[in-house]
Amino acid sequence: MKKILVTGALGQIGSELTDKLRGTYGEDNVIASDIRSPENPSGIFEEIDVTKEKEIYEAAKKYNVDTIIHLAALLSAKAEAFPKVAWEINMGGLVNALEAAKELNLKFFTPSSIGAFGPSTPRDNTPQDTLQRPTTMYGVNKVAGELLCDYYYSRFGVDTRGVRFPGLISYVTPPGGGTTDYAVEIYYEAIRKGAYTSYIAQGTYMDMMYMPDALNAIIKLMEADPHQLKHRNAFNITAMSAAPEQFVEAIRKQVPDFKIDYQVDPVRQAIAESWPNSINADAAKEEWGFEAEYDIDRMTVDMLKKIREKIKRTSS
Ligand code: SER
Repeated sequence: MKKILVTGALGQIGSELTDKLRGTYGEDNVIASDIRSPENPSGIFEEIDVTKEKEIYEAAKKYNVDTIIHLAALLSAKAEAFPKVAWEINMGGLVNALEAAKELNLKFFTPSSIGAFGPSTPRDNTPQDTLQRPTTMYGVNKVAGELLCDYYYSRFGVDTRGVRFPGLISYVTPPGGGTTDYAVEIYYEAIRKGAYTSYIAQGTYMDMMYMPDALNAIIKLMEADPHQLKHRNAFNITAMSAAPEQFVEAIRKQVPDFKIDYQVDPVRQAIAESWPNSINADAAKEEWGFEAEYDIDRMTVDMLKKIREKIKRTSS
């Protein structure tokens, strides 16, 4: 990667990835884009509506990029609320981005998700290659997206690569409308109120990962020698498998009086139950050296510290 266009650059992954890429590849070599401009863009920024056929292509051409990192998408709970809109953004955006990559001969990354699995998938130690019959619109989009990316690789030679992200936890930009968002909210509420009401039930395990590990994974996969890759779209990756009570336990080591109660949201609970408890990341480890540095305790120490600092900054 030398010059990169990022779509969805103001989202949960995009906002941090853009900064990291600028630090690694140079300020002028990363073109951030989203559907609306931020108030104070900090580097090159283009307004792109990914559902408009040519907008990604035109920006990629204008800046002569060699890579597209396509992040613009609706998350699972939002996609369940607006399934048709999710189809238009998640699939329409993806095919437009892939077309641009095909026309301009670009490398291509887009994330898949644990949401690409469904209730008939083996729930524990979920293999890389397994049954994928998701029951959510988000999951349908993710499986179709994986297949489409593999198709653009085998049919047109586009260098497409992807990972199945678990729930991503970060303190910079909040996720919007996902099922795993509780694992971010719980940290903010631990600092603000010392208590959290979880919409996900006790005992519901899902894979999770701290954002620095997610960003490193994207870069490592994109820089990997293509000859080492037997899979492409998309690799299972994970850093931890956790239910709400594991977060409570980790937070209590820092905030001893932290309290939890449960008011389960049936929609998001049903989505969570249709996903694996823990996925197997051996293919990613073997084919491109994936590794995660943060377990739940190390992540919790950092999250709480960074959120405290953030709240102090905004309130002073
Ligand atoms: N974090 C995402 C969601 O909950 C899963 O990919 O929708």
